[in-house]
Amino acid sequence: MFGSLYFSEVAGYVPCVYCWYQRILMYPLVAILTVGLLRRDKGLAAYVLPFSLLGIGVSTYHYLLQKTQLFDSSAVCQVGVPCTSIWINWFDFVTIPFLALTAFLIITGLTLIALQAGEPDSSEPVPGGRVWLPVVAAILLGLVIVGVYGLLNRPTATVQTFSELSVVETAAQHATSANLPANLDGAALYQSACAVCHGQEMEGVAGLGSALQRNETISRQSDDELLTFIRQGLAANHPTNASGVSMPPSAGQPNLTDAEILAVVQHLRTNQAIN
Ligand code: HEC
Repeated sequence: MFGSLYFSEVAGYVPCVYCWYQRILMYPLVAILTVGLLRRDKGLAAYVLPFSLLGIGVSTYHYLLQKTQLFDSSAVCQVGVPCTSIWINWFDFVTIPFLALTAFLIITGLTLIALQAGEPDSSEPVPGGRVWLPVVAAILLGLVIVGVYGLLNRPTATVQTFSELSVVETAAQHATSANLPANLDGAALYQSACAVCHGQEMEGVAGLGSALQRNETISRQSDDELLTFIRQGLAANHPTNASGVSMPPSAGQPNLTDAEILAVVQHLRTNQAIN
């Protein structure tokens, strides 16, 4: 719970709809487990498992949504931050729903152990001494499978452009605006990657991203500087950040290529004059 509150309240990562569902299932466990353990309630598992098992379901779904194309991501999370946005991507597979999934699995595993072991009888030695082994092994195995699956099935939404881009990208370290493939539609990429936070007309969205029309940062910086900026994102506590929320690295879409981001940058430039 503190980890998740840190991400949203301190780091300024805006939770999406599925993040909220996971919070709804995770936070009550803090009180349920505390009170249950203090009262040594033998029925505790029955209160905990509905939350933790549903949590496993939501986290797994959310993680697969981020990392694979199993589900039609255009059909979910249309309001606010897209559920496919990736705020953190440690080792290329540890995202926030992955952390939630780990927590739900550990809670479920420990609860199952407690359920199986039962209350120790003072006259007998504690039964099922090694009962935790298969549970821990199952949790680890589950995480490895989901992690590997996520790594192998990263979204390839822009797959049509990848083949053309690989030529450009091996020729130079990255594409520059001069040799952008003509078929990269910066306006469309802007709509899919940036508009949720910066507005369809770059007018900005209250509580998410600033207006990008007639924006000094954009007119002052070179294409490469803007590319670097978008790759890095902007922390909530950065001095130039007026919004109190973070911009995720690569706009939350690590699979965007340099050429695609540069196409968006060109789109930002054309609209500076119009607006
Ligand atoms: C999840 C929300 C989110 C997404 C998605 C997002 N941004 Fe941002 N962006 C922000 C926030 C928040 C700031 C900081 C706003 C502020 O300073 O008030 C920011 C700042 C910026 C700035 C600097 C503006 C300035 O005045 O300093 C630029 C440029 C920018 N974003 C471009 C982009 C582009 C291009 C994309 C798409 C590829 C994108 N952003 C996607 C949230 C987002």
